[in-house]
Amino acid sequence: MAFNLKGRSFLTLLDFTKEEIEYLLTLAQNLKDKKRAGIKGDLLEGKNIALIFEKPSTRTRCAFVVAARDEGGMPEYLGKNDIQLGKKESVADTARVLGRMFDGIEFRGFKHETVEELAKYSGVPVWNGLTDKYHPTQVLADLLTIKENFGYLEGINLVYVGDGRNNMANSLMIGAAKMGLNYRIVSPRELWPEEDLVKECREVAAGSGATITISDDPVEGVRGADVLYTDVWVSMGEEDKFAERINLLKPYQVNMEMVKNTGNDRLIFLHCLPSYHNADTDNGRKIFEEHGIEEMEVTDEVFESSFSKVFDEAENRVHTIKAVMVATIGK
Ligand code: CP
Ligand code: NVA
Repeated sequence: MAFNLKGRSFLTLLDFTKEEIEYLLTLAQNLKDKKRAGIKGDLLEGKNIALIFEKPSTRTRCAFVVAARDEGGMPEYLGKNDIQLGKKESVADTARVLGRMFDGIEFRGFKHETVEELAKYSGVPVWNGLTDKYHPTQVLADLLTIKENFGYLEGINLVYVGDGRNNMANSLMIGAAKMGLNYRIVSPRELWPEEDLVKECREVAAGSGATITISDDPVEGVRGADVLYTDVWVSMGEEDKFAERINLLKPYQVNMEMVKNTGNDRLIFLHCLPSYHNADTDNGRKIFEEHGIEEMEVTDEVFESSFSKVFDEAENRVHTIKAVMVATIGK
């Protein structure tokens, strides 16, 4: 069934019904098939798209650019030093200016309130490309990847291991609650999510058949997982926390022993990326040397395994982001 999402912003999946999310996933699959068939689209023809980035990005930025171009849209990248947002000009003023020029605005940054304010004042759809609190376009790609691997979403056991209160843990909890997955956060108590959000997600879950549980047990907590998901231990903007997090999260590393403890030989591994799975980066090497470790949130062995679907997941960012843009501003 087609849903009319024209003119809507995409700030968190809490604002969308299960049926609307299903519609976006089906649209994403159709757009993926269309691209694979080599068919050039025009669903975003004539649309000017602003991409505001206060934080760095590989996948999200490139997914928005490629998705827009595939359908004839015209993306414009606005980095943190390129515009006045929040410095010389208020968010509300920038929003009203960009809204007069662009048909849609993507925002990645720190405060979730900023993306809400952009949506409130711009008068055009605003898409959340990650804030400290949520990362909803990533979750759409994750749901599509899970669906591609298992054929369905309802009843899938999705276990998120690591920093249980970051944007990914929060947004996956919302996505799972909406779509009827059994979601478990496995994390030390110091990093459990905010009570209010857990309560809200449990209320949503009551309507979809989902369950939301939280455990600090890295052995029992992963038992029965269909999907093992992790994210970096230190998110963008928290770079002073490596020592504290490594200390807290060492027992929660996704390694082959944890994989074995799931007891599931159909298991898949997901990670939103970027990932510190080896020392192949300058940053990684420096951090690992400083803290006497060789890997962080996931071992190289798991990351490179046949059940790791992280690059399918990364590709799915394009198709799902395209679906969001087409649904909200497309023809
Ligand atoms: N997963 C994700 O959002 O990646 P980027 O930070 O590279 O955009
Ligand atoms: N939690 C991570 C996600 C990156 C896509 C961060 O905010 O840095």
